[in-house]
Amino acid sequence: MAMNSAEEDGIIDTVLGYCEAGGTHMQPDVMHNPVRHYTDPQQLEREIDVLFREFPIIVGHASQLASVGDFLTHDATGVPLLVTRNPAGDVKAMVNVCRHRGARVVSESCGQTRAFTCPYHSWTYDLDGQLKGLPQPIGFGALDRQARGLVEVPAFERFGLIWVRPTPGPVAIDAWLEPMAEQLASLSLENHSVYRQWSIDTNMSWRIALEGFQESYHFCSAHKHTACSAYLNNQSVFLDKYPHVRHAVPVANVARLQNLPAGERSYRAHFMTQNYLFPCNFVQVMTDHVYVHTIAATGPGTCVFQCTMLVPEPPLTDKAKKHWDANYQVVRTVFAEDFAIGEGIQQGFAANVNDHFLFGRYEAGLQLGQRAITDALEGRLTAASTA
Ligand code: FES
Ligand SMILES: [Fe+2]
Repeated sequence: MAMNSAEEDGIIDTVLGYCEAGGTHMQPDVMHNPVRHYTDPQQLEREIDVLFREFPIIVGHASQLASVGDFLTHDATGVPLLVTRNPAGDVKAMVNVCRHRGARVVSESCGQTRAFTCPYHSWTYDLDGQLKGLPQPIGFGALDRQARGLVEVPAFERFGLIWVRPTPGPVAIDAWLEPMAEQLASLSLENHSVYRQWSIDTNMSWRIALEGFQESYHFCSAHKHTACSAYLNNQSVFLDKYPHVRHAVPVANVARLQNLPAGERSYRAHFMTQNYLFPCNFVQVMTDHVYVHTIAATGPGTCVFQCTMLVPEPPLTDKAKKHWDANYQVVRTVFAEDFAIGEGIQQGFAANVNDHFLFGRYEAGLQLGQRAITDALEGRLTAASTA
């Protein structure tokens, strides 16, 4: 039984058209992207200040903060974050920096507690970040405890995922996610669980890592012996969901849908979808499970790639585990292929032979992604309003 959206039926029609008549998605023109976008330290500084500070970024899955008192820490963006489930049941996020003299308050990556005690002098904060107590308060005179809580930053739980803006400031989260809302809701990610989570420090610009998900032109070259045979060769559909992008990659046997009645054409069973969620997340939807990726700049020519593998509940039988493990191994292999290429690109910058990179007409995700990045860096795009 297919449960497609009208959008997904449209993607199927488009791809069946490609299968029959040839062709693929084309942007109006090629695009030239200056290599200094990848190499200029001032550019990176601006990207960190804007993209990695002022936009909501996925920091976890709802199941990781299932109960009151659950917490996790997140450091990839460069801002040490502490994210909690408070007694009211809401997700809260705060900067993991003590308001006494700046120590890191929580060192664990996750856990369960009622309060957080700073290791330096034992100032204690509750799950909302309020300062609850300190040893020998007499030494601080009339301390305004209200004003000494951990600094709160915007946090949101939507579609089973947790988003945080790493600095204080406005976020209109529903308007922000609206272009992707129908699809995200259809995935029921709140009914998934985290099967694996891993993180890789890489020697490449965060942009290079990002671009690995924004076209499928490379599949049959870089992934010749792996992903190539599983998908149509460079016949993906790109939907402009500004500032996000839906990138639908048809599986190799997608043409079989031609022979099925409309009501039985399952989109999910015949596409891998690489959804770009601006600025640095991908929700990669496989036929029966989902990956959530966060790519964050860690310095000039380095980035961290965090990946969460979500599988539908329930039961993890031995057979199911075998199946998910096999998928996990494939994805690690394929990403290793991407990273080897990406680190090579980074090394090649030293030679200085390209002053721009050329984005082909069917490398549409690159073009759309770059447009949104430029808009954000130049102040035309914010998460406070997306109209
Ligand atoms: S720095 Fe945290 S209690 Fe002193
Ligand atoms: Fe790839």
